[in-house]
Amino acid sequence: MSTAQGIIGNRYRLERSLGEGGMGQVFLASDTLFHHKLVALKLLKERMAENEGIRRRFDQEVRVCAALSNINIVQVTDCGVTEEGYPYYVMEYLDGRSLSSILMEEGRLSPARAVNIAIQICNGLAAAHEGFEYQGRRVTIVHRDLKPENIFIVDSGMGELVKILDFGIAKICSEIQSTLIPTTQQGMFLGTAHYSSPEQIRVEPVGPASDIYSLGMMLYEMLSGTDPFGLVAEGNTKMQAWLKAHLNRPPIPLRQQPDCEHISPALEAVVMRCLEKSPDRRFPSAVALAAALQTAIQENRTVVTAPLGTTSGIPWGWVIACLSVILVAIGFVIWLLATPSKKEECTFESDPNCYCEKQQKLPNPDSRCSAI
Ligand SMILES: Nc1ncnc2c1ncn2[C@@H]1O[C@H](COP(=O)(O)OP(=O)(O)OP(=O)(O)O)[C@@H](O)[C@H]1O
Ligand SMILES: [Mg+2]
Repeated sequence: MSTAQGIIGNRYRLERSLGEGGMGQVFLASDTLFHHKLVALKLLKERMAENEGIRRRFDQEVRVCAALSNINIVQVTDCGVTEEGYPYYVMEYLDGRSLSSILMEEGRLSPARAVNIAIQICNGLAAAHEGFEYQGRRVTIVHRDLKPENIFIVDSGMGELVKILDFGIAKICSEIQSTLIPTTQQGMFLGTAHYSSPEQIRVEPVGPASDIYSLGMMLYEMLSGTDPFGLVAEGNTKMQAWLKAHLNRPPIPLRQQPDCEHISPALEAVVMRCLEKSPDRRFPSAVALAAALQTAIQENRTVVTAPLGTTSGIPWGWVIACLSVILVAIGFVIWLLATPSKKEECTFESDPNCYCEKQQKLPNPDSRCSAI
């Protein structure tokens, strides 16, 4: 590298650390070959084995991720391996906040905001799950590590724009790890426990339904501020407890969580379906989930007008709708009573126009009707 001089791949100058996660560290860097444009560079922790085949495979997999282009997925632009053997990849630099820091600050989000974020995540997932062309073949990618830390929110000027980070990277990292860890430990679950699907924990093959489960976990947290197994409330942080809960513990219905009565039953049903233990019982695709969320949030808007945190449970939407109908009916009756029945009551003295009209004649200035 020249990692010592803070230059990676003879090109990217590291400016400062943006943060660190389980798989590596992300730096703000400037691209010295391209107008010193700011980029984000993720340097993976796991050193890659001195094996040309593995390096080629890493390169290939990151290039596939780079070919995935969608407004809701962070754009990967380059990758490589440092002289010391640490893999890295480069992506667009985002000026915003992660969903985890938003949740840490705000606790939970309104249904409209949570659903807006979730629908944008669905849009990104749909692009990767449905597949795209790469070097003449169709490839699909499952994220495998959806969690609030990997969801970035940028202020687009027209509302919140969601960017999914680390698409497909979990698979690449577990492949690098599997070349390094002893064979006795292979086949063990190596991941983030809080948002992982039951099939991931069982180390079975995973498909789009696994990402839908993780998104369901995030939606539940965005809406309630807690987890569906009551582990946060119990103060249980043990990894084993989370793994067991995903596998066996039935999730608590969303509306039973404190201050969640304002969430519509339809929205609750969508979230709970994402959390089904069996992948077959979840939504068949991210597109289907987005459509269900769209319908459910409309119901949430018409039925519920109580603000976030209101616990009265009064269906204010219905109360206001009924009052409006009653007011319109009263107004109509008053109008009918106040309007005189002109055709029946008018005389020539009271209204020559009306009288002459009844007689099929025209009024004239000397107060006589003249024949038409
Ligand atoms: N493209 C980017 N632009 C700006 N900030 C970023 C970008 N990518 C990551 N970050 C920030 O860098 C920090 C570290 O990200 P990183 O992905 O290493 O952590 P993580 O998601 O918690 O862990 P993991 O390694 O499991 O993905 C996070 O705070 C994230 O918000
Ligand atoms: Mg990450």
